[in-house]
Amino acid sequence: MKKLIIINGPNLNLLGKREPAIYGSLSFTEFLDKIKDKYKNVEIEYFQSNIEGEIIDKLHEAGFSYDGIILNAAAYTHTSIGIGDAVKSIETPVVEVHISNTFNREEFRHQSYISPNAKGVILGFGLQSYELAIQSFKLEV
Ligand code: DQA
Repeated sequence: MKKLIIINGPNLNLLGKREPAIYGSLSFTEFLDKIKDKYKNVEIEYFQSNIEGEIIDKLHEAGFSYDGIILNAAAYTHTSIGIGDAVKSIETPVVEVHISNTFNREEFRHQSYISPNAKGVILGFGLQSYELAIQSFKLEV
């Protein structure tokens, strides 16, 4: 069974409550329950932190044993050389996801320190971005 982990960065613990016009009104745990139910043949772990170093530690921990990492580093995407370097340092492929289309938002969201070392990037599909990332690992031959 493929072992995946979803790592969410700062403020994503507020999904469902935070700017619902952009991020939707479903909490991440509600979404995760649905997705785990739908993809029973994939093991899906979940980790969220508002702290940059904790995200780096989790990438190190999962990055040599999991089959895939789905990373939404949220605002750190646009600022963190440390998270970018961590993605580069590990073996497990990382798919970068964003709920919103960061390219039709402010200019500062157009920069990503994750993308150059990600296997791929999925953005702008709401929470479905995560599901598409799961499918990208499942469909792999
Ligand atoms: C986000 C986009 C980021 O620019 C923002 O800082 C977030 C969420 C997204 O999923 O759309 O917190 O990563």
